[in-house]
Amino acid sequence: MMNCLQSWPEPVVRVQSLSESGIQAIPERYIKPPSDRPGFEKQEHVDIPVVDLKNLFSHDHTLHEETVKLISSACKEWGFFQAVNHGISHELMKRTREVWREFFNLPLEVKQEHANAPTTYEGYGSRLGVQKGAILDWSDYFFLHYLPVYLRNPNKWPSLPLSCRDLISEYGAEVVKLCGRLLKAMSISLGLKEDYLQNAFGGEDIGACLRVNFYPKCPQPDLTLGLSSHSDPGGMTLLLPDHDIAGLQVRKNGKWITVKPVPNAFIVNVGDQIQVMSNAIYKSVEHRVIVNSVKDRVSLAFFCNPKSDLLIEPAKELVSEDRPALYSPMTFDEYRLYIRTYGPCGKTQVEFSESNR
Ligand code: OGA
Ligand code: NI
Repeated sequence: MMNCLQSWPEPVVRVQSLSESGIQAIPERYIKPPSDRPGFEKQEHVDIPVVDLKNLFSHDHTLHEETVKLISSACKEWGFFQAVNHGISHELMKRTREVWREFFNLPLEVKQEHANAPTTYEGYGSRLGVQKGAILDWSDYFFLHYLPVYLRNPNKWPSLPLSCRDLISEYGAEVVKLCGRLLKAMSISLGLKEDYLQNAFGGEDIGACLRVNFYPKCPQPDLTLGLSSHSDPGGMTLLLPDHDIAGLQVRKNGKWITVKPVPNAFIVNVGDQIQVMSNAIYKSVEHRVIVNSVKDRVSLAFFCNPKSDLLIEPAKELVSEDRPALYSPMTFDEYRLYIRTYGPCGKTQVEFSESNR
């Protein structure tokens, strides 16, 4: 399978260029089968939980415990929550998002210097998966490695705008700290030692990647998706959505719920590797992105992942006779080959590894 990941199976088309060309009908490649199209059904009055992190590291034991419980029930019931009072500067969040918007608004030739390949996916891309003839999503993206340090190569990051590399470094450092705090809280809430998840992810060598998504305006938003349904293959994701435009939908009881972004919040979600380590006490949840005809949308997805060559398996503490291990050990490198080959396909992969044990 590795051999298929050398190059894209067909010429790459930048969705932003299509959008800016002024076409009124989207090419057939982007038209989803009717069952996958956004229904635009009446929204129910529910939203993912909002968790205030202010007391997460309070010395008051009761307050701390309450926050851990809120995180735990959000992870169990939704696999998603919006985190407020997370300690990251709102100004830094805004500047980082805006510098990426500027990047995507640079001339095509400048962005093309960073064009990516499916070998590592690093750089400027427009598809996920290498299946020839696949139906594509209405988005472009930029993908980069932040951790472990030996995989970080700022020369592969955008050279323009001039402040982009510094902002990525500064933003990354802050988000990594927040990930550490959340992993602690999740470990405690699972009844594990507070450093369990961080250590199982490689300790200092934990993985972290950033994917910046750009969803251009779409003349026929009811026929396509910005990002097809998937669960995140990694450990945990911290998403910084655009401030004034919704797009993310989360699957709950078979229905799609559109997330209304709370100002300055991070949207946190459980990935497949935490599902595996928690032996499915926490579940990664399917989500997707819808597009619109009015406004481009930018989002920053920061993925906190296991170091790629470690074996990931259910925590021994969470395995018993009554609740046997649901997954066999697998490295994250092996695991993510699936999405890198086939593109986003709901939760088929983690379910597949369950049925094959
Ligand atoms: C992702 C993702 C959601 C969004 O990048 O994995 O789910 O709103 N993004 O862009
Ligand atoms: Ni995702």
